[in-house]
Amino acid sequence: MNQTKTAIITGASQGIGKNCALGLARMGYHCILMARNQEKLEEVAEIIKQNGGESSLFAVDLTQEEELVSCLQTIKKYYGNIQVLVNNAGMYTGGTLQITSHAFRQQLELNLTAGFILLQELVPVMKAQKSGSIFNIVSRSGKVGFAQSGAYSASKFGLLGLSESLYRELAEYGIAVTAICPAWVATEMASVAGSPHQNDEMIQPEDIFKTIAYLLSLAPNTRIKEIVIEARKSIR
Ligand SMILES: NC(=O)c1ccc[n+]([C@@H]2O[C@H](COP(=O)([O-])OP(=O)(O)OC[C@H]3O[C@@H](n4cnc5c(N)ncnc54)[C@H](OP(=O)(O)O)[C@@H]3O)[C@@H](O)[C@H]2O)c1
Repeated sequence: MNQTKTAIITGASQGIGKNCALGLARMGYHCILMARNQEKLEEVAEIIKQNGGESSLFAVDLTQEEELVSCLQTIKKYYGNIQVLVNNAGMYTGGTLQITSHAFRQQLELNLTAGFILLQELVPVMKAQKSGSIFNIVSRSGKVGFAQSGAYSASKFGLLGLSESLYRELAEYGIAVTAICPAWVATEMASVAGSPHQNDEMIQPEDIFKTIAYLLSLAPNTRIKEIVIEARKSIR
């Protein structure tokens, strides 16, 4: 069984997940990259390799439960030791009651249920090793229900609740769980979702990785339940 420090990052093909993967690889983690787009994952893996790091990639649609579970079983069998999970993959569809129930469910499937399945499969590994760090990438929309984004907010409030329950449940097993709740981050999601801010006015994706690196630098018994991150212009 391989005993390298391993980090799993979902949504690692771009944006926040890509930045976290590159950063964690620089910190010496073997990064397991998950997202749908194999080509983009290969590009991330290539950058990691060029910087002297190591990674493996799994092109998987996290909303396909069987595919996801079978992929996680392969990962657990091969790697055994999983120190970090960045539960990051997500999607944004604007609208509250205007969207179809199908679009509502799609958001819940990815932003909440996929994260739940990852946790269900990976927490037992962390419990057995009596250590682990889980970062659930929530959103400011998991703290505040902004107008015209009720479906997204519902999924993120759900993820925040799941994260907070596990924060309490897993403390005694040596597992730290933190919900990271950023306002607009300068990624493709922000431009597609219609952020009113210029790129340099938003939180930079590297800052989400730096927050994770800071949390990982704390003493093993220190716990931070959630971190809300805002950019000067997005405070409202
Ligand atoms: N950007 C913001 O303003 C902001 C603010 C607060 C919170 N967040 C949260 O931060 C997280 C990352 O967002 P981002 O800004 O980096 O967005 P992004 O650039 O759109 O990246 C989203 C990532 O999720 C992956 N993904 C989407 N659907 C997937 C699926 N069905 N299966 C597997 N992977 C899937 C995408 O990869 P593939 O397309 O290759 O599958 C991509 O790697 C999300 O949870 C988002 O809600 C973002």
